[in-house]
Amino acid sequence: MKKTTRVNHPPPVELPPGNHPLVAPIYQTVKFEFDTLAQTEAHLRGERPGFFYTRASNPTTRQLELLLAELQGREDCLVTASGVGAIAQTLLALTKQGDHVICFVETYNPTRYLIRRLLRRFGVSHTLLSIEDLAALERTLAAHPTRLVFFESPTNPVTKIADVTALTGLARAAGALSVMDNTFAGFHQHGGFAVDIFVHSLTKYASGCGDVMGGAVIARPELIDAMRSDFGALGGTLDPHAAFLILRGLKTYFVRYAAQCASAARIAQRLAAHPAVARVHYPGLPTHPQHALAAKQMQDFGTIVSFDLKGGASAARRFADTLELFALAASLGSTESLVVTAQMMVGRDLDADQQRISAITAGTIRLSIGLEETDDLLGDLARALDAAGAESAQI
Ligand SMILES: Cc1ncc(COP(=O)(O)O)c(C=O)c1O
Repeated sequence: MKKTTRVNHPPPVELPPGNHPLVAPIYQTVKFEFDTLAQTEAHLRGERPGFFYTRASNPTTRQLELLLAELQGREDCLVTASGVGAIAQTLLALTKQGDHVICFVETYNPTRYLIRRLLRRFGVSHTLLSIEDLAALERTLAAHPTRLVFFESPTNPVTKIADVTALTGLARAAGALSVMDNTFAGFHQHGGFAVDIFVHSLTKYASGCGDVMGGAVIARPELIDAMRSDFGALGGTLDPHAAFLILRGLKTYFVRYAAQCASAARIAQRLAAHPAVARVHYPGLPTHPQHALAAKQMQDFGTIVSFDLKGGASAARRFADTLELFALAASLGSTESLVVTAQMMVGRDLDADQQRISAITAGTIRLSIGLEETDDLLGDLARALDAAGAESAQI
């Protein structure tokens, strides 16, 4: 064999039987082959297991899918290149012209865009409700045959808690599928509820380090099987190297999440006592209007702490610019703490009444608490709150 040929067919190295790597290898390959054409054809007919083309499946992405399904308490999963990819592909795979979808004012802005703008172009109608108005949900389900009810809990950014039992019960009774974006709560929560389909952004807590994007759809096998070929055709596959990084991130998921939640709880308490703060939105605080529901539904209260500054937009600007440890950046769930202001979160598609329901005020701030020392974060927040409060008092 000439060297030019050899470099394209390097010597194979196979592990001997009984010899295993502790970390599964990254199958960084697009193609897989079978030994014969007959085996290839059998695989393509679905009669022989294996892998053929990474857009359809790959051992590394499959390992991540099996792990996530188990963490969320379901049997199967499909992973995608981003969280929004998981949401978009789920919506496209599960709806057809003439269907009706229910979503909420408090739903993540890009999800609302997908339902209100993209699905509408394909003849799918929607109704936008408040996550707190279960009576309106019941009325809407009675008035319109509905394919999907798409919701989140806690909601972004003001951490409203959806009543998961009531919501999924109403959807199921009306013959609609419930889809829950469980990104804010993580993979270990809400699995015991009758949610039909969970979607997640793996970009957040799964990776944890803010260096890789991914998404997941987790459900019972018949729903995943119904979506699988559309997902393959839509092509938003997760790369095996990204899957490897996410699998690596998941090894520390539970310890990271617990430490970040503990820090978030301390920070929420401290914010609530500061004179520059009008209101703190953290489901772990007894003052949160749905604290009891959160305590019933969740094992912990998350790492997102939002609050409203008394001084409005100008105080928010001074606050954000004074912070040193919190990066002014999108996303959440990473090891580094992040801050976003109302201007970065407001839903520009919402009318005045819907803006009121969304509860984002000019002084609303969302913090994503990372893994820094809590005392350092508290010191940084105290300086920024003093800057926000002091100058607004002079105005
Ligand atoms: C609740 C929620 N769902 C989905 C996404 C989208 O995830 P990705 O950024 O991985 O597309 C985000 C991102 O911020 C989110 O907050």
